[in-house]
Amino acid sequence: MLHDNLSVGENGHLYLCGADTVTLAEKYGTPLYLLDEDRIREKCRTYHRAMKAYFTPDSRPLYASKALSFRGIYRIAREEGMAVDVVSPGELYTALSAGMDAADICFHGNAKTEADIRYAIDAGVGLFAADSTVELDRISAYAVQRGITQRVLLRITPGIDPHTFDAVNTGKVDSKFGSAIVTGQAEEIFCYARALPGVELCGFHCHIGSQIFDEKPFCDAADMMLTFMIALRDTYGYTAEILNLGGGIGVRYTEEDPYIDIDRTLELVGAHLHAVCEETHYPMPKILMEPGRSLVADAGVTVYEVQNVKTIDGYKSYAAIDGGMTDNPRYALYRSRYTVVNASRASAPADFVCTVAGRCCESGDLIGEDIALARPACGEYLAVLVTGAYNYAMSSNYNCIAKPPIVLIAGGVDRLAVRRETFEEMTACQL
Ligand SMILES: Cc1ncc(COP(=O)(O)O)c(C=O)c1O
Repeated sequence: MLHDNLSVGENGHLYLCGADTVTLAEKYGTPLYLLDEDRIREKCRTYHRAMKAYFTPDSRPLYASKALSFRGIYRIAREEGMAVDVVSPGELYTALSAGMDAADICFHGNAKTEADIRYAIDAGVGLFAADSTVELDRISAYAVQRGITQRVLLRITPGIDPHTFDAVNTGKVDSKFGSAIVTGQAEEIFCYARALPGVELCGFHCHIGSQIFDEKPFCDAADMMLTFMIALRDTYGYTAEILNLGGGIGVRYTEEDPYIDIDRTLELVGAHLHAVCEETHYPMPKILMEPGRSLVADAGVTVYEVQNVKTIDGYKSYAAIDGGMTDNPRYALYRSRYTVVNASRASAPADFVCTVAGRCCESGDLIGEDIALARPACGEYLAVLVTGAYNYAMSSNYNCIAKPPIVLIAGGVDRLAVRRETFEEMTACQL
């Protein structure tokens, strides 16, 4: 199996962390998001332990909650001592309503509005990752009005291409995010921020992209950032307290994807950072990282019921399911590859190659093409694996399809964390 929290039971059903996915589909209905809570907690602990051991004792992971945002996940993050990163007032609201301490929240985004900034400052967020001088002006003005000093990081684009797919590659110079080092804009925004009242510049942030499978791009980004920081120290006498290296550690979606050892990767990045800091006599900064996908993706499985199977002679076969791009738009958006299993007969040979199609009135509504699985029959269940990240978070009500529920499984016990949306809830804002 792709990950060690997946197995096949004696009844031939697919199990996620010891729970029968078919039984859960019958209990809660489909489509259904299942989440292995123990796996998420274990990942949080791995990041914590490794960052303290290999970076500095006060280094800390922030859960990048854009990957999966609902109250239950913020509660887990809080209980695991995680800080979180939010990118909108809605994520901030959800985190706060789940009991997150605002001081443990970093507010991101390249186009924060005046209202967003006021809301976040009123809530008491610990940090802003500021993206522009306009944003800095707004933070400064409101902080002065409130009589507070707001801690900020500056989002910098280090110019690193981690060789990932363009749509998820954000660290290059040509990016809607941040200020580039190479163009001189990073230095300009640094000088700008330092001169502002009501703003305390604590350091710098970068995020170079997603689905990164080795330590090298992180080390390269750290080199670029440290070179920039050393130049600022030498020119302006400024030493940064914090360096945030963003998220991006990759996840295995299919057998073709490599496996990445998070602890070992952080150990290598940490050794590199220590060596550079020692060599340049720069005090090792507190390191923040913002894992999203690598914390939650392989905890998730989505279960669907098969509605129709057809073969077009001379062309191909389709298996149509009762969900699709409304609960997982990633194939439609990025051609992201997934592993699909016939959850009802998970040990049967995967000898039927088909396109798994969603229920929307849209030809592009596919979960994947050329997928090999045990030939499904109507009423059987298909499980799409590794759907914990950027699935529920990216879900929509296209075609007025209600959003599926989320069930958390901890210690073998399942509990509803998000209930299935009703049509009344879906239309509640419509006057
Ligand atoms: C600023 C920032 N931090 C963290 C992340 C999380 O990345 P990942 O889910 O790949 O770990 C993202 C993803 O887009 C991001 O933009």
